[in-house]
Amino acid sequence: MPYQLAVIVPTLNERDNVEPLVDLLDQALAGESWQVVFVDDDSTDGTLDVLHRLAGDRANVSVIHRVGRRGLSSACIEGMQATTAPFLAVMDADLQHDETLLPRMLRLARDEDVEIVVASRFADGASADGLSSGMRRTASRVGNAVSRLITRAPLTDPLSGFFLLRRTLLDRVAPALSGRGFKILLDIFASSPRPPRYAELGFTFRARVAGDSKLDTQVLWEFGMLLADKTLGRWALVRWIPIRFFMFVAVGLLGVGVHLGVLGGLLHMTVPFLWAQSVATLVAMTSNFTINNSFTYRDRRLRGARFLTGLVSFYLICAIGAVINVTLADLVYQQGAHWALSGVLGAGVGAVWNYGVSATITWGSWWRRRTGTDG
Ligand code: GDD
Ligand code: MN
Repeated sequence: MPYQLAVIVPTLNERDNVEPLVDLLDQALAGESWQVVFVDDDSTDGTLDVLHRLAGDRANVSVIHRVGRRGLSSACIEGMQATTAPFLAVMDADLQHDETLLPRMLRLARDEDVEIVVASRFADGASADGLSSGMRRTASRVGNAVSRLITRAPLTDPLSGFFLLRRTLLDRVAPALSGRGFKILLDIFASSPRPPRYAELGFTFRARVAGDSKLDTQVLWEFGMLLADKTLGRWALVRWIPIRFFMFVAVGLLGVGVHLGVLGGLLHMTVPFLWAQSVATLVAMTSNFTINNSFTYRDRRLRGARFLTGLVSFYLICAIGAVINVTLADLVYQQGAHWALSGVLGAGVGAVWNYGVSATITWGSWWRRRTGTDG
């Protein structure tokens, strides 16, 4: 007999949380036929040792250890597909989700005409006091409003990471799931040809005690992107241009300001023009790289040694971009085009070059092959 319910728990550095969680599940699900599947993305804090010990002690605990891959959504999908239980729950490992809700969620999905039960931090009777800051709470609400557009269902908490569904629903949506990022619930709703029949249960989102949240700034960023996509993306002309290109250009324009500021300052200090211009160029490229790295490519941020190699590749790409820019502008100008048009054309083609090449080399497939992140 397969277990009736599989609880899928993604983990990334949750050493002190996993054992208490299993104990809590034990109490909450006493009398039910259940298993728990931890999907760990190669935690570095010893979580795996604890998980392997737990799995050795108990038949209903198993562990999927993923190496060279990252991502909350894909971890949850993989965990669900590694089981045969007819009911699947997903919850965080950090004890923020109220496990005592699980029996009620299971009953709804099993006995009522409901395919997925979402535990909501914002439904009636819920409380999200555990959200760490006012800003986080605002971000969460804005994200919710945007997400409702995608889910086509008035979920009160479309970002919830705590839900329970029937396997039949998973099977229906599986081929269309994107598996990227952390918006797994959104993914399930958006991948279903018709919105799934759902129910919501309010719960009190507890504060995290041990370990750190992995999503604080990522949540904000992903929703900025989603928002930009849903607003700018509506404008037919720009639909095929990636949102990142606009961010890249905005950062570039900021870089022009940085460049002029540094150039003006150095000239004021009577530095020779050639030197001043060189330093200004270097400062502007470095600031463009840094801002793009933590803003445009927040989800692929380069750190440590890779920050430095990335910076060098960015210098080289921009240098080639500058040559293309100047050569093209000069060519067009020599053909008799207006100076402003020639200038803008050169700069525009240079920007597209810089964007396209840095997207693939500095922050692109090279990087992905090395780390395999799918987040
Ligand atoms: N396997 C794996 N891989 N697990 C991960 C990863 C990853 O890349 N990133 C995070 N996790 C695990 C954490 O260990 C934790 O168990 C759970 O996923 C949620 O991560 P937190 O870092 O605690 O997220 P949160 O509390 O900030 O975010 C919660 O609220 C979001 C909405 O605001 C989660 O419930 C999210 O799912 C939810 O979207
Ligand atoms: Mn959490």
